[in-house]
Amino acid sequence: MLRPTGKKEAHGLLSGGFLFSPNNRIKHSTSSRRPLITLRAFVLCCLLVLATTYVPLSSAAFKKDEWHRVKGDDVTYQYFEHAATGVKLKVEKNSGICEETPGVNHYPGYASFNEDEHMYFWFVEGRNSPTIAPFAINLAGGPGGASMAELTPTSSNTYNLNHTVNMIYIDQPIEAGFSYGLNVVGSTDAAAPYVWNLLQAFFAGFDEYENQDLSIITSSYGGHYGAVFADKIQQQIKKIDSGSGNSKRIEIATLVLGNGWYDGAIQYKAIIEYSRNNTYRPLISKLKAEEYLREYYLHCLPAQRLCDDDLGNFKKCEDVYWKCGIKRSLLSNRDFYVYDIRQSDEDGRPDVMQAIGAKSSWEYSSDRVYKRFGLYSDSSHSALDAFSKVVRSGVTTLSYAGDADMVDDWFGNLDVADDIDYDGTSSFASKRLVPYAVNGTVKGEFKTFQNLSFLRVYDAGHAARHDQPALAFQAFNQTMRKKAISPT
Ligand SMILES: *[C@@H]1O[C@H](CO)[C@@H](O)[C@H](O)[C@H]1NC(C)=O
Ligand SMILES: *[C@@H]1O[C@H](CO)[C@@H](O)[C@H](O)[C@H]1NC(C)=O
Ligand SMILES: *[C@@H]1O[C@H](CO)[C@@H](O)[C@H](O)[C@H]1NC(C)=O
Ligand SMILES: *[C@@H]1O[C@H](CO)[C@@H](O)[C@H](O)[C@H]1NC(C)=O
Ligand SMILES: *[C@@H]1O[C@H](CO)[C@@H](O)[C@H](O)[C@H]1NC(C)=O
Repeated sequence: MLRPTGKKEAHGLLSGGFLFSPNNRIKHSTSSRRPLITLRAFVLCCLLVLATTYVPLSSAAFKKDEWHRVKGDDVTYQYFEHAATGVKLKVEKNSGICEETPGVNHYPGYASFNEDEHMYFWFVEGRNSPTIAPFAINLAGGPGGASMAELTPTSSNTYNLNHTVNMIYIDQPIEAGFSYGLNVVGSTDAAAPYVWNLLQAFFAGFDEYENQDLSIITSSYGGHYGAVFADKIQQQIKKIDSGSGNSKRIEIATLVLGNGWYDGAIQYKAIIEYSRNNTYRPLISKLKAEEYLREYYLHCLPAQRLCDDDLGNFKKCEDVYWKCGIKRSLLSNRDFYVYDIRQSDEDGRPDVMQAIGAKSSWEYSSDRVYKRFGLYSDSSHSALDAFSKVVRSGVTTLSYAGDADMVDDWFGNLDVADDIDYDGTSSFASKRLVPYAVNGTVKGEFKTFQNLSFLRVYDAGHAARHDQPALAFQAFNQTMRKKAISPT
């Protein structure tokens, strides 16, 4: 059955409201206030519609692989049952009810894997030539973040990617955002097949989009999701090419990762260096930095190496949590905001943290998804191999990082990029960062070699894409057209 249970839906609404709560302290406050409210109203409207009108669906009555319209009281649903995966889609397709922007088509919906697992998605069709524009999958980090938080409007809608690309926001795994049901996923690996199956069903139902270049856009813990999902999708493609299965070819053409968490061995060290040597101000004394570095070499790195060498070994990876307390320690009890060290703590906004899907990325673990991932030590499992494989396979990849974020700092993100194992490793690693300008104004620095680009974003925190919307827009657009990034 496809009906959302009242209980979970109420939870979804609550967190939805929180996610989009107007924020009068953030930099672009005045201009962003109205769109924030509008967007919230829009999201709530669509959710209410999805949640309150129950239309009985007996799948036996419908033919698989065909859309079926079912008229409810004031909205028409469309159902699609995908024969190959058994995934059922329920979308509100072109109902017009929630349309806020003429000319932009929104399709909020659920993909149901079975009676107990329902994944929320929101498809926003590009405004200009949607059927030839690139297609982006937006995922939040967390683990456990809600993907639509990525929609938090910026000062100006001019930089909204929905002009030029089609976007699908997916709340995954089950229990993240508005997805609900029985959560059995405790790792990035285990989360991947859900996204694959959802996409299989989605592109069967929306087959006018199936041949478009697909991009994954994500950040923060999404460093794990983006790299691993893209790699898993490539593996599926290989299977298809070798003649097994009847899946659709869904190819990832581009990958956009921001302030990501990828690899403990690299990033636990980098955060010490960042804390001492970032370009804003030293956050710890030289003595303290040396102390942390000793701890890193003595306890943390060996534990991380043991885990890296023996990934299946739960106990060894669990040890990383105990031996690599460096990051937790550096991030706690600060008088500044760890997601943007330019701000003092009281400016650190829980709604912004939530909005960027970061609320539980390091210590607040009230979230069930987060806890489950913790149980499986997922964050200690390096995503570097998957990241390298994806770059080697020819996926145009952009790693960008706001330089005021301490949680997944740009030192570590750059070190990870330099460590990507592909044809261009040594050329890439030896390149210096050079200015990246947007229409003549320098807003960051970057380097690029073959299919890999790295971009440091000036004056931007963990939510770099919102702090520097013009830069993000330009860099994303370039990457999604399968081009190396370049200044304008
Ligand atoms: C898409 O872009 C338009 C124009 O910039 C904007 O008004 C609208 O809110 C955007 N829609 C979404 C869902 O972001
Ligand atoms: C900070 O930079 C200085 C000068 O380059 C270097 O000697 C020092 O080791 C760095 N400190 C840390 C903690 O990385
Ligand atoms: C670039 O800057 C010029 C001069 O300031 C301005 O006229 C133009 O509109 C800008 N172009 C874009 C795309 O922002
Ligand atoms: C990206 O990789 C693909 C496949 O390996 C290759 O054909 C293409 O030339 C690469 N692009 C660049 C800019 O090197
Ligand atoms: C996006 O990139 C394409 C290809 O480089 C370019 O033609 C287009 O003008 C860009 N769109 C915007 C809005 O910058």
